[in-house]
Amino acid sequence: MTNATQLPGAGQPIVAPPGLEGVVAAETSIGDVRGEEGFFHYRGYNATELARLCSFEQVWHLIIEGELPDPDRTREFRQETARLRTLPEQVAKLLPEIASVEPFAPLEALRTAVSLTASVIGLKPVLDIPAEELRSQAIRVSALVPVILMGLYRAHQGLEPVPADPELGYAASYLQLLTGEPPNEAHARAVEKYLILTMDHGFNASTFTARVITSTGADLGSALVGAIGALSGPLHGGAPSRALQTLDEIGERSRAYDYLHQKVESGERLMGFGHRIYKTDDPRSVLLREVALETGGEQARFAEYVEQTALEVLHELKPGRRLYTNVEFYAGVVMNSAGIPREMFTPTFASSRTVGWTAAICEQASHNRLIRPLAAYVGPPPPRPLPEGYAYC
Ligand code: ACO
Repeated sequence: MTNATQLPGAGQPIVAPPGLEGVVAAETSIGDVRGEEGFFHYRGYNATELARLCSFEQVWHLIIEGELPDPDRTREFRQETARLRTLPEQVAKLLPEIASVEPFAPLEALRTAVSLTASVIGLKPVLDIPAEELRSQAIRVSALVPVILMGLYRAHQGLEPVPADPELGYAASYLQLLTGEPPNEAHARAVEKYLILTMDHGFNASTFTARVITSTGADLGSALVGAIGALSGPLHGGAPSRALQTLDEIGERSRAYDYLHQKVESGERLMGFGHRIYKTDDPRSVLLREVALETGGEQARFAEYVEQTALEVLHELKPGRRLYTNVEFYAGVVMNSAGIPREMFTPTFASSRTVGWTAAICEQASHNRLIRPLAAYVGPPPPRPLPEGYAYC
């Protein structure tokens, strides 16, 4: 840490703004978001360029190992990670039980299953293991998340799990584990671009959560469970199915303006718009709009119309707030057109983001300092005397 970002000693607290907005809380070499420029990168490489030109495995390798792999290393990494797509027997046995909890919420089920997997494969506190072991755990769990997710989804549908096809890359395998069918190439590539675009995104809430948990020396599984919990909130990862729901509720172009106007006027937020960091176009939404228009047919064209109308409404009712389309707006259209069920949208986001979370966990563990900020106490002045006669009962 540089001096500028070091926490002060006791006695000189810095009062951070609500939501820690604008506060630098760590150093990272994984990636960064430049909100004013509408740019984000992974280890210095433009992330949208990576999504356009690379496979999931190439970018996964870049994020977790620090370098873009050459073709030989990519082949090796692809084989290495494909081999890891086998669930431990105990986990496979219990997935149907987890999936039987009603109402079925796949992200909650994933959270439970990741916790179970961490125990079954014996993940030890990061404080007690060397960096190489943590890296292997990170890759193994990242490879298992799609298998867990699709196993849960299929179990809930009363279907047997599909054995993973080791010949397929991560994105194609993701779709094959869902349906059991060889995936359509265009769909697999569209989903791959989405997955690459969502692998990491600076010091977002779930990554921060993973780092806080890692900073205590806890195991990788605990950090991932916390991160999944943070991602589940609609202000973070829970928006893509809600954005698609908005499209359904609007139904036709002629209703868009009134519907959106009424929502914002009544104080509601339009899902898929606004971002804490981006104060211009979110580069992820720009690429996903393109991908959606390639694969999403009429729904994508309707979404584009609704997007333009929403931006007009926000400009009219929230002037000067610099609200733009975020990643979640077109994410739903892209996943829907690839056949991913709506309830699996946020879990799909969790699957790709596991790459970023695990890289952040490894980075935190390698330069660890317990994350332990202060809170300004604003309750009744202490010490308060107990009410007279107040006693144990
Ligand atoms: N619709 C309508 N108004 C909005 C929206 C929106 N989507 N987003 C922000 N605003 C308004 C706020 O009401 C506020 O207005 P005010 O000044 O009149 O009170 C103003 O813009 C500033 O909003 P903040 O709450 O300060 O913005 P913040 O940075 O905290 O919020 C957030 C960012 C949470 C993403 C917000 O824009 C939002 O709720 N968006 C909708 C949910 C969503 O799309 N989530 C996915 C985010 S992307 C991701 O995490 C992967």
